[in-house]
Amino acid sequence: MRTLIKNGRIVTAGDFFQGSISIEDGVIQEIGCDISGSFDYEIDAAGKLVMPGGVDVHTHFNLHTGSAVARDDFFAGTVAAACGGTTCVVDHMGFGPAGCSLFHQLRVYYEYAKEHAVIDYSFHGVIQHVNSDILAQLEDMLVQEGIASFKQYMTYDYRLPEADILRLMEKVKTIGGILTIHAENHEIIEYLKDRFIREGDTAPIYHALSRPDYCEADAVNRVISLAAAVGNVPLYIVHLTSALGLKHVISARASGQTVYSETCPQYLLLNEECYNQELDEGLKYILSPPLRKKRDSEALWEGIRLGHIQVIATDHCPFTIALDKQKGRGDFSKCPNGLPGVEERIPLMFSEGVMKGRFSINKMVELCAANPAKIFGMYPKKGALLPGSDGDIVILDPDKEVTLTQSMLHSNADYTAYEGFKLRGYPVMTLSRGEVIVQNNEFIGQKGRGKFVKRQGFSEQQTII
Ligand code: URP
Ligand code: ZN
Ligand code: ZN
Repeated sequence: MRTLIKNGRIVTAGDFFQGSISIEDGVIQEIGCDISGSFDYEIDAAGKLVMPGGVDVHTHFNLHTGSAVARDDFFAGTVAAACGGTTCVVDHMGFGPAGCSLFHQLRVYYEYAKEHAVIDYSFHGVIQHVNSDILAQLEDMLVQEGIASFKQYMTYDYRLPEADILRLMEKVKTIGGILTIHAENHEIIEYLKDRFIREGDTAPIYHALSRPDYCEADAVNRVISLAAAVGNVPLYIVHLTSALGLKHVISARASGQTVYSETCPQYLLLNEECYNQELDEGLKYILSPPLRKKRDSEALWEGIRLGHIQVIATDHCPFTIALDKQKGRGDFSKCPNGLPGVEERIPLMFSEGVMKGRFSINKMVELCAANPAKIFGMYPKKGALLPGSDGDIVILDPDKEVTLTQSMLHSNADYTAYEGFKLRGYPVMTLSRGEVIVQNNEFIGQKGRGKFVKRQGFSEQQTII
């Protein structure tokens, strides 16, 4: 099957030009101003932007939290992703039974994704405990399965003692992996949460007040110090939210540590006033870390502009307000944590980032596709438009005006945190490995067509950031 996308404005992390792209059997063959030949299928992209499909390296499909299950499985979640212009996800595997091997969750997640996912996918390993078996399995996961990144939580039940974090870091460094970190100080959260509940302060805003910015900053600083002790294991701080946390990232990078960070649209565009909305509205925004102050969002935009933050992902973890989030009525601590967002990311970042002049279109491609693919060992198969790259492409109409509303989205969540946002520009077509799977906001591909992506280990060379 030979496909030609012609007359488009082609955008990559480093280029912007009028041209065409040819794709054969799912792989990009040629990019240029004048491509000739015969094609089975031609797409006229006149007036449109043609970009690498988005790579979202922070989703939680099917996540079992203990009190609820995230509403999108790998079918609904990847359909939503594709409709929003994302063509590859790296999902954070949830916790398995206490004491389980690293491969336990991998097997569970292969089953979740197989025959369901509609775009290509990988998983981050999850560390629940550390012993010699787990340390040995880290290498097997990378070599045998292409799982090159491992998530470590500094809060929740499976947070690790520091001695174990150090052992883990040493091993991850040796095998050429990267650690992804959920950075919040657990003791501060537990102390403040208990105190607020005891005193009857149970409204959604107390969720934010029980997880203050210094709680994130302390954990970021601590994990950076631990990484320094083992001699610079690559770190990737997920969902960075605060100016204080960012300061530690900046100073670690300035001193030569390999520390990357990710933020998400919710931390750039929404603030803690959301928690004070009437009735149950505030419950919609309960996620961890919580929404912050406007000045934090401003620091994050600036951190992106200056290159201190390399990735915009989503932390997509959808629940319903009608049922799931009601558990937090009368006690914020009982509310399942998380927001939907996998579908909204590319449209929001184009409209709020590029069209509002906060960053260039090339920078957007870097943040939403190229950098995540590089950091997590998938570049240039994913995140690039190069001969040999997968034909994963989003075509975006910069003139299309859309008012975001839940009914146009594909997640099983019953709300969007961005209801009523007026967007300039929206994806109109998504191709995955050369196949058109979304046209005008309608998914037209096959369930289960997505493939697992075996990733490479972390290497400084491919990671020029
Ligand atoms: O509130 C959130 N972010 N839920 C998903 C799990 C996590 O901590 O990333
Ligand atoms: Zn997290
Ligand atoms: Zn998450």
